[in-house]
Amino acid sequence: MGNRIKEEIKTFDDAAAYDELMARPYTRFLKKNIDDYMSRIKLKDSVILELGCGISEHAYRYKDDNQVLLTDITVSLLQRNDPMCARLAIDAQIVPFKPNSCDFIIYLGILHHLPDQYASLAEAARVLKPGGRIFIQEPHRMSLNFFYYYGRRFFMKLVGVENVKKMIGCYSPDEWQLDKRAFKKVFKKGYDIKRWTILSFRLPPFRFFKNWNLDVTLSKVFDRLPIFKQIGTTIFYEVVKRK
Ligand SMILES: C[S@@+](CC[C@H](N)C(=O)[O-])C[C@H]1O[C@@H](n2cnc3c(N)ncnc32)[C@H](O)[C@@H]1O
Repeated sequence: MGNRIKEEIKTFDDAAAYDELMARPYTRFLKKNIDDYMSRIKLKDSVILELGCGISEHAYRYKDDNQVLLTDITVSLLQRNDPMCARLAIDAQIVPFKPNSCDFIIYLGILHHLPDQYASLAEAARVLKPGGRIFIQEPHRMSLNFFYYYGRRFFMKLVGVENVKKMIGCYSPDEWQLDKRAFKKVFKKGYDIKRWTILSFRLPPFRFFKNWNLDVTLSKVFDRLPIFKQIGTTIFYEVVKRK
C-alpha cells in the first residue's frame, strides 16, 4: 500500500475528527444541498455505486429499491454504514466492476484525496451504463479555496503537518482540489454535463470557527448574486452518458 493511501486512512480513521468535520454548519449546509439533489433522483432496480462514501448520508434513500454498493479505502468508516448495503473496501482509482454495470455513481468530496483523479474518473466512465449518471461534489479551486489551500501548504511548511492538523482537524496533508483537466479529458465526448457552485463565502477551516454559522449566512446572501454563483467554494457536476 502506498504512503499516500496510508496517510488517507490514518486521517479518516480518526472518528472524532471526522464527526467534528461533518457536524460543522458549513458541512451541514453543503449536505443539505446534496440531499436536495438526491431527492430528485428517483431510481428503481438500479446499481448505485458510491466511491469514498465515508459514512453515506444518501444510501438510505435508495437501498430498498436498488442495489447500493458503498465503497471506501478506510475500513473503520465503511463499517459505520448500514449493513443492509454492500460495503466494499476498494481504492477508487481501480474500480473492480464490469463495463456498463452501474446506473448512478456518486463522488462526494473524494476526488481531491486521490493521487490520480484521471484514473478514477476513467474507471467511472468505463463502468457507467449508457444513460447512467455521475454526480460529483468537490472543493472548487477558483474561489476563496485558492487562498486557503495555498495558505495551508505554507503553514504546513512553517509549523509542520501535525500542528496544522491540531488547528484544522480532519484533513489529509496531500489533499488538493478537483483536477479539471482530468475531468475534461475523460468526459470530452458523449456526455451531457451540468456544472454549478455554492457557498461563495468560507471561513478559514480552523477548529476555532467550527460552530460559527457566519460562512453559511454570508454565502446565502452572496450566492444570490450572479458573479458569486460562478465562484462558490463547492463545485458540483452532473454527468450523463449519452445512449
Ligand atoms: C472528505 S471524506 C468524504 C466522505 C463522504 N463521501 C462524504 O462526503 O461525507 C473523503 C473520503 O474519501 C476516502 N478516500 C480517500 N482516499 C481514497 C481512495 N484512494 N479510495 C477510496 N476512498 C478514499 C476517505 O476514506 C474518506 O472517507
